[in-house]
Amino acid sequence: MSRLDIFIDRMVSQRACLDYAIGETAALSGPVYELGLGNGRTYHHLVERIVGREIFVFERAVASHPDSTPDEAHTILGDMTQTLPAVLAEKGPVASLIHADMGGHNASKNDAFARFMSPLIAPHLAPGGLVVSSDRMYFDDLEELPIPADAVPGRCFIYRR
Ligand SMILES: C[S@@+](CC[C@H](N)C(=O)[O-])C[C@H]1O[C@@H](n2cnc3c(N)ncnc32)[C@H](O)[C@@H]1O
Repeated sequence: MSRLDIFIDRMVSQRACLDYAIGETAALSGPVYELGLGNGRTYHHLVERIVGREIFVFERAVASHPDSTPDEAHTILGDMTQTLPAVLAEKGPVASLIHADMGGHNASKNDAFARFMSPLIAPHLAPGGLVVSSDRMYFDDLEELPIPADAVPGRCFIYRR
């Protein structure tokens, strides 16, 4: 499998899992958290598809496409290992949907980071809320759901509180 194949599988899976999760959580009013803005592709998708929910982005350094850049009030700038606990203390478990796309090109580093981040992410989720992630997460108290038929196994994961 080429890197191009893997990239395409990841993009197709992200869209399928996000669309599924947006629909499943549509009745919830809590905010959506985008963990990792990057180029802003998935943030832009969330903005296009989500109605009536605020979207907050956690990112250490904004470098996104100008069309895909949140305003200051919705940008939580800094290292997520610091900002996630601070936001939890302020807002509590309110997120209806969390999209975690935090990794880079090194699979074993991504796995270690996902393991480290899981207990910092799970407490944000409101009852019935979903996490969509690009890496397998290590949640003690969330249920892993089957991914949609048009997503590729291993390229995205969905968890529910
Ligand atoms: C794979 S990219 C996100 C791509 C994005 N979903 C898109 O569609 O364009 C991962 C992003 O996570 C951010 N990131 C990784 N670790 C972080 C941390 N500890 N704190 C804040 N941001 C972090 C990186 O700066 C990078 O922009």
